[in-house]
Amino acid sequence: MTSSSPDRPNLKPLRATFGAIAIRVRPLVLRLGLTMIASALASSPVPAIASVTSPASDPQPVRANTGMVTAAHPLASQAGVRILQAGGHAIDAAIATALAISVLEPYSAGIGGGGFLLIYDADTREIRSLDFRERAPIAATSEMYLDADGVPTTDSRSGHRAVAVPGTVAGLYEAHQRYGQLPWAEVVQPAIELAATGFEVGDRWVQSLNWRASTLLSNPAARAVFSREGTGETPQLYGLGDRFIQSDLAATLRRLAVDPEDFYHGQTAAAIVADMAANGGLMTQADLEQYEPIWRDPVCGLFQPQRANPEQFRVCAMAPPSSGGVHLLQMLTLLEPFDLAHQSATQQQHLLIEAMKIAYADRAYYLGDPDFVAVPVAELVSSAYLDRRRADIEPDRARSAAEVQAADPALLRRITMESRDTSHLSVVDGNRNAVSLTFTVNGGFGAGIVAAGTGIVLNNEMDDFSIAPGVPNLYGLIGGAANAIAARKTPLSSMTPTIVTDTDANLRLVVGSPGGSTIITTVVQILLNALVYDQNVATAIAAPRLHHQWQPDSLRLEANFDPAIVRDLQALGHSLVTGGQWGNASAIEVIPANATQGSEPFTDYLEGATDPRGQGLTQGF
Ligand code: GLY
Repeated sequence: MTSSSPDRPNLKPLRATFGAIAIRVRPLVLRLGLTMIASALASSPVPAIASVTSPASDPQPVRANTGMVTAAHPLASQAGVRILQAGGHAIDAAIATALAISVLEPYSAGIGGGGFLLIYDADTREIRSLDFRERAPIAATSEMYLDADGVPTTDSRSGHRAVAVPGTVAGLYEAHQRYGQLPWAEVVQPAIELAATGFEVGDRWVQSLNWRASTLLSNPAARAVFSREGTGETPQLYGLGDRFIQSDLAATLRRLAVDPEDFYHGQTAAAIVADMAANGGLMTQADLEQYEPIWRDPVCGLFQPQRANPEQFRVCAMAPPSSGGVHLLQMLTLLEPFDLAHQSATQQQHLLIEAMKIAYADRAYYLGDPDFVAVPVAELVSSAYLDRRRADIEPDRARSAAEVQAADPALLRRITMESRDTSHLSVVDGNRNAVSLTFTVNGGFGAGIVAAGTGIVLNNEMDDFSIAPGVPNLYGLIGGAANAIAARKTPLSSMTPTIVTDTDANLRLVVGSPGGSTIITTVVQILLNALVYDQNVATAIAAPRLHHQWQPDSLRLEANFDPAIVRDLQALGHSLVTGGQWGNASAIEVIPANATQGSEPFTDYLEGATDPRGQGLTQGF
């Protein structure tokens, strides 16, 4: 162990804040009317392609020439493609897809929550990112989830006190104002239709509902929405194959189609505020009125996999208040010199795991809302710092979490094994504009409540704050002062919408995933599979995953990992928990035609894939 302090990595937080380059967006009310060492490690050279699964598999991506949408629900992908085919920009399709997800997957993400998007503008070849994450209500305080004895309550997870100020509507509208080509009402329309005419619920939907049933049934408004007998004595939850119609949500969406400000200033706002006031929630009209999405520069870095034909990539992902981009780049940079493609399969995984521990230890200490705390982004992703951290990695031994950074080893908690919360979508249009969007209501069905009369499932994003130092959140993540609760502060996220270009700024890859704390490690594994091991996106996404988040000090491996690698990792000292699956990733890759055909003129095509762990759809044309 080489950290200079037992309590923290050898890095001084600097005052430079990445958020300084953020651009605040004025509240909606003012805007209406305008329309990414050569190894000395002992390893036996093996073929370059990582193989971590026992049964051979050969998943194939969907191919298309013009445009493509990937999303977690087939009807959402279809909504997005409908908008692309109507002449919409990638952002128009992303908005339609996100709003459709809000209707189709109330358990994962929606207008009662928030998120982040990255957009690649084919004209300027620039990548920008929009933070439309929820913010803490004005009345929020650092100890609001501790009882009189200082013991954490469950209020951050269920019920009205768990709700942070939603940002989805403001964020989507802001993105539309900046980049949209079709009328706002037209991009909202597919979601209205899905809510009004309903859709058949599938097994994922039903399982998610049953998992959160007791909380939902104890909230009368949620009970009215999710049970067939509405407010009856013995409510019967919707079951497999039932048609689920959401009249209140359809009406809300119709209002938003006419006037998105309605969510923050109009009838929808009034209904949310009344519901909060009647049930002990903190959010007020002032909270809604003051909500602002924020344009921020993404965090970007160059990544050069060591391959026969080395190619450098520029990887851009979400900057704080998401931790995703910083730690994605940290892991890639930590791994870059190891020549992974020529390591044994076990070494590939061992090195990745050790990089994960370093990244998540930094996350717990340094990361928070950059508008409230100094997050040393540039330093955390710098070669100078990561060279030092990499030198601590041992090739033949798993370091304990305490060695990576001293912390309380008693903090063992579950991570989410099934990703029923959060949703990711990727869009590429015919002009090669692209959107990578991840949004959420946090836990399955958010706070487990519906704002009466609106059909809106409200988030429990307040749980993504550190309730108290060392107290884990839903995903077992711990944090400290940097992520403490404060009025109007943004809770730290792991969402990692990501866009990769080549060094000439040509679009190459759009990717992301849900999965709570596992989001960042899921995205890094997909990138390594695609960029280092040359896998197509379908194979890269389908490959078995592993996850280590420093605390708890335990390595999670999906069930279908090659037993030989599992055995070897155990021999290196990794403490393993096997089983389950996580993530519901999707990705679109732009394949330069000349890369495979050597042909001119220079055209390209798209390859996309959704995660076999989920039930999403890739649709292109
Ligand atoms: N709510 C999960 C995340 O933002 O990381």
